[in-house]
Amino acid sequence: MEGEDTVPTTTDATAFRISRTSTPLSPAEREKRMTAPGFGRVLTEHMVSGRWAKGQGWHDLRLSPYGPLEMDPATAALHYGQIVFEGLKAHRLHDGSVGVFRPHAHARRFQRSARRLVMPEMDTGMFVRSLEELVRADRAWVPDQTGHSLYLRPVLYAEEAVLALRPAYEYRFLLMAFVTEGFFNDDLNPVTVWVSTRFARAARGGTGDVKIPGNYAGAFAAQVEAAEHGCHQVVWLDSIERRWVEEMGGMNLFFVHGRGAGTRLTTPPLTGTLLPGVTRDALLTLLPEHGLPVEEVPLAIDDWQELCASGEITEVFACGTAAGVTPVGTVRSAETRWDVADGNAGPVTRRVAELLAAVRHGSLPERHGWMHRVT
Ligand SMILES: Cc1ncc(COP(=O)(O)O)c(C=O)c1O
Repeated sequence: MEGEDTVPTTTDATAFRISRTSTPLSPAEREKRMTAPGFGRVLTEHMVSGRWAKGQGWHDLRLSPYGPLEMDPATAALHYGQIVFEGLKAHRLHDGSVGVFRPHAHARRFQRSARRLVMPEMDTGMFVRSLEELVRADRAWVPDQTGHSLYLRPVLYAEEAVLALRPAYEYRFLLMAFVTEGFFNDDLNPVTVWVSTRFARAARGGTGDVKIPGNYAGAFAAQVEAAEHGCHQVVWLDSIERRWVEEMGGMNLFFVHGRGAGTRLTTPPLTGTLLPGVTRDALLTLLPEHGLPVEEVPLAIDDWQELCASGEITEVFACGTAAGVTPVGTVRSAETRWDVADGNAGPVTRRVAELLAAVRHGSLPERHGWMHRVT
């Protein structure tokens, strides 16, 4: 069966110019940089860029050596934040080839984000082609080490040098890549999370369900508050009743109910104020195929605490492209604090992490066309 991610996309006729670096790093230097890369620090040697202008459409798509940009101080994006981005990963597959996980789903979310900010949508074919060209050029940067991967960061911003308060007429697309070992760790060490009651991430009708920098800049204050209370991440509640659990800073949440044969999972529904994670979507499909039913059901923060106390909620984990699967061990807020079961990663979380890693690395066959091989 052809999965939704393999739906053919319109092909774009725009010429793609390729110019590779004339001073490639030595393999020894590259290896050195790839050891303990952290997150977001070790950029590769190439980038893709492209432009869009009103009346002209997409043009000037090219792969070139990675390097700084020259920017007009009046660049509209700097002033009014007309910027959208994505985050996806290329993995070294078990057979040594390289695959990008769900590029078409990320392309569609990139389009949705652009639409919300009245920006031009990039054709799915052009988006995927850009990823392919970059991964092909920087293939040597795709790590072999389990858990490490190449993170791909597309970004689109208003490039027109104008301070008029309106959607811009000119845009720039950039795609870069960095080597990553993930946000947290691959040992499934649980995180402590902070329930923010002082700040809100997203409002109804706002931009919480698209991937734009403002959502993240607005969340930093809560992240700092969380860190001051010894917490790794923020849990966001809905902004009206301040009661319904939505998501975490960069991940969606799953709750495990019960144990053994009766185990089932829930995740908050897409109310329009949380990001529809591509990993969340993959798990909604994948887990029932492996005997773990999942439902999209709202959960109130008080019920999270009560259901942990009664033993009904046995495990909680968060998932996302950058973080993979991360167990939640302890929950804290200004008023209270509780542990999820014994505070350690449970068997369902471990199983989900293994399943997801196996699908991402191509060692578990899936029939949804999620893995896009770059040849
Ligand atoms: C706010 C937020 N929620 C959830 C996610 C998880 O989304 P995905 O699985 O597509 O990485 C992300 C990561 O992009 C995010 O930034």
